[in-house]
Amino acid sequence: MKPVLYMAPIQGITNCVYRNVYSRLFEGYDFAVTPFIRNCNVISIRCKVLRDIFVQRNSATFDLIPQILSNSINDFINLSKIMFEMGYSTVNWNLGCPHKKIRRKNRGAGLLSYPETIVKILNDVITTIPNQISLKVRLGNEVNNDLFTLLPMLNDFPVKNIIIHPRTGSQMYSGETDIDAFEECLSLTKHQVVYNGDINAFETFKYLANRFPTINMWMIGRGGVINPFLPEQIKSLAADTEEKTRARFVEFHDELFASYQKELSGPAHIIAKMKEMWSYWSKTFEGGNHVLHSIARTRNLNQYLSLVGKFFNNNPKLLIYTSHGPKLKV
Ligand SMILES: Cc1cc2nc3c(=O)[nH]c(=O)nc-3n(C[C@H](O)[C@H](O)[C@H](O)COP(=O)(O)O)c2cc1C
Repeated sequence: MKPVLYMAPIQGITNCVYRNVYSRLFEGYDFAVTPFIRNCNVISIRCKVLRDIFVQRNSATFDLIPQILSNSINDFINLSKIMFEMGYSTVNWNLGCPHKKIRRKNRGAGLLSYPETIVKILNDVITTIPNQISLKVRLGNEVNNDLFTLLPMLNDFPVKNIIIHPRTGSQMYSGETDIDAFEECLSLTKHQVVYNGDINAFETFKYLANRFPTINMWMIGRGGVINPFLPEQIKSLAADTEEKTRARFVEFHDELFASYQKELSGPAHIIAKMKEMWSYWSKTFEGGNHVLHSIARTRNLNQYLSLVGKFFNNNPKLLIYTSHGPKLKV
């Protein structure tokens, strides 16, 4: 069976501009979960916080699942209903955001300390909204066993699937993923599980796929930004030489830059956004760090383009290109 791949939500990176450009140039993802939309006093389908999911702004070919970060039953219901009106039949509930400010307010991963509250919210929300719900969770808030308590309590709910990132909230995004704990989660849930965490190379995917043969759905975050070819590599869709792979990357960079030029106002914002991209791409190329550090000194778009143009013209080594990488399409 071909694996089903989800683009992970990364606030500031996997927004609609990125998703649209990515989808024009690459294959491989089946779904994308959007970066979270916070509950606010949403009263209208035209509300600004929903801009990222406006249907007319989204042209990606993979299915889009908007994500909600909330612990308020009313806000959750209102937001889900508006998303349904927009055409989104599934919403994803963020129970994994690790930021302290959010966890302290018992949202994101903070809610994982309160399984009864999660069940109460789900109970009221699921019976009221027209959409299906998928969940994105971590192992726990501060400890790695909150999920062991929660998962059996969710078994009778009609949840579409549960995306599990096997870290705790306090771990943020670093430290080891706990795949033994992930394995234990599998024995505690009846729901379909999507694995998420540190899939950053074809070999990592292969290792995890061998270790968890019952899992067929995978979510890729930072690894897919650093290596935009990774979904194609996993699905054996890419067959290019390093030179062609680099050329495709340059095209991706140029289209993303052009799209941000249209989307954002003023060179400072565009350069800041490209710098954010290069915080990932610095790991894509040998010498990529030099670009990341030099961007801080660029004052206008021409300087930025000249810096990046010179870098690409020197044919930098692609660190993501290995002999195990792109596979021949069969
Ligand atoms: C900068 C940043 C922003 C993120 N924003 C979100 C978000 O809005 N919603 C969410 O559920 N996860 C968010 N995540 C978590 C990722 O979706 C993913 O769960 C995490 O990075 C682990 O997967 P990976 O190792 O494949 O990146 C974010 C991660 C990072 C690094």
